[in-house]
Amino acid sequence: MSSKPGFPRHVAIIMDGNGRWAQAKGLPRFAGHQAGAKMVREIVECAAELGLEVLTLYAFSHENWKRPKKEISLLMSLLEYFLEAELKNLLENDIRLQAIGRLEALPPKALSKLRKTIQATRHNKGLVLNLALNYGSRQEILDAVKRIVADPPHEITEATISGNLYTRELPDPDLLIRTSGEMRLSNFLLWQISYAEIYITEKFWPDFKKAEFLKAMDVYKKRERRFGAVKA
Ligand code: FPP
Repeated sequence: MSSKPGFPRHVAIIMDGNGRWAQAKGLPRFAGHQAGAKMVREIVECAAELGLEVLTLYAFSHENWKRPKKEISLLMSLLEYFLEAELKNLLENDIRLQAIGRLEALPPKALSKLRKTIQATRHNKGLVLNLALNYGSRQEILDAVKRIVADPPHEITEATISGNLYTRELPDPDLLIRTSGEMRLSNFLLWQISYAEIYITEKFWPDFKKAEFLKAMDVYKKRERRFGAVKA
């Protein structure tokens, strides 16, 4: 399937600000992650309705292991809950789940639920929901280099590198969204976002509702993408 004219094919999102959202409301950080998980559902449904091809969500980074053990374990439980609770919704909306990152290092229960949901949705033809879990872009590039060196082709091109990344079956993102106003890339899809448009909003992720996502789509549509060339 392909996205509607003017819409991005692939949107990647750095979902940031759960903790600050909770703090502003005098709630524990985990309440922010729970509210964030609800927003994941809303935005995934919206992306599917719009007919986007791929939505990549940065759900847990390589660096997130530095957080307190309790927060990590709550985030993993939330992921497990999400995978179970969302299956029906994914199937009804023809959404195919995928994941990128060093998945084998995830806790066994979360990994097994992830694999089951990927398996159960593998024939779906609509939106690809791509969860970045234990993901880091430098680690991904390093893994790609190791794969290439292990079985070197005659010539190494950009396509060789793209073809050995975790995202090898996906188009590069056209639009990168980051919530909560930070101006950082945080080790996210560094190779793949070379030509992506960037949209940063002050909204915390749990406040990034459907209307905000649609606003980002409108801004994207008005951008002129030149890919390094001059205006025709
Ligand atoms: C950033 O907020 C968010 C994360 C580290 C995790 C993202 C997780 C979710 C949106 C919920 C679970 C997702 C799924 C797919 C079930 P932060 O904690 O860094 O916020 P802060 O910068 O305000 O502290």
